[in-house]
Amino acid sequence: MSYTKKQKDLIKEINNLKADKKAVILVHNYQKPEIYEIADFIGDSLKLCQQAAETSAKIILFCGVNFMAETAAILNPQKKVLIPYPDAGCSMADMVDADSLNKFKKKHPEAAIVCYVNSTADVKAVSDICCTSANAVNVVKSLKEKKIIFVPDKNLAAYVASQIPEKEIIAWDGYCPVHHFVNEEYLEEVKKNFPSAKIIAHPESKPEILKKSDYIASTSGMINCAKNDPAKEFFVLTECGMVERLNRSLRGKKFYGLCNLCFDMKKINLESVINSLKEEKFKVNVDRNASRKAKRAIDRMLTLT
Ligand code: 13P
Ligand code: SF4
Repeated sequence: MSYTKKQKDLIKEINNLKADKKAVILVHNYQKPEIYEIADFIGDSLKLCQQAAETSAKIILFCGVNFMAETAAILNPQKKVLIPYPDAGCSMADMVDADSLNKFKKKHPEAAIVCYVNSTADVKAVSDICCTSANAVNVVKSLKEKKIIFVPDKNLAAYVASQIPEKEIIAWDGYCPVHHFVNEEYLEEVKKNFPSAKIIAHPESKPEILKKSDYIASTSGMINCAKNDPAKEFFVLTECGMVERLNRSLRGKKFYGLCNLCFDMKKINLESVINSLKEEKFKVNVDRNASRKAKRAIDRMLTLT
């Protein structure tokens, strides 16, 4: 990837500012390539959560979407967590709210609530444990309850249910538009057009897509699958930014992917990062009570992984 002179100057300025402020920059795999250049760490939701829990930096600048920055803030109530573009949301996270979840729980009082990390702090606060796409199966397996309410992603819930048939998984009706609308006809076309490519799907995809894929993995898990497989070509069924991330990470292999964009993931640019660092905005604030309760669900997950 070649950058313009302006981009190179901005990257240099951010790296200097970051050192002055003793800040750490955590970057999700779906971010733009130029944002990778300013990262201290690039990863999936689980790895970013673990980094946020471990860092000793006083300022954490998060390049991702809201729920990710919020999770970092919950894990670090004493630190300043910044997000350069505060309106970067996740449409799936908005498909469940704490009031509706509490009402639903009353119908299934014996069930444990497992919330995907793609959820608000309020939803995490009423959940028993959190999970990410990388550890959802292990998290659910670890619970003593047989009945599980899984929110908000019905596709991830179906995947977990397929791996743990002894549990009863009650799925919320949420989904990610980037993954959910990939259909079987599209996958057949991909297989026809890329006959030597192995297919790697994200577990936010529909069950029929997962069944026909060679691998099912979180965004960082995709890098490991491709690294350990001797195949030279892969087609990844996830947000399009992952293609660049994989092509950079595994130079001898070729990656192809969907044109599906997560617009929220792409809102952050170098200019907004400079502003964020210079002015130490936008600080992520989480209600103290919700934060304390949500932290229990996140910590419980982190002790398992
Ligand atoms: P990962 O945890 O696999 O990076 O997934 C996050 C996400 O939002 C996928 O759409
Ligand atoms: Fe949310 Fe989907 Fe975007 Fe991931 S890709 S942040 S699940 S809307």
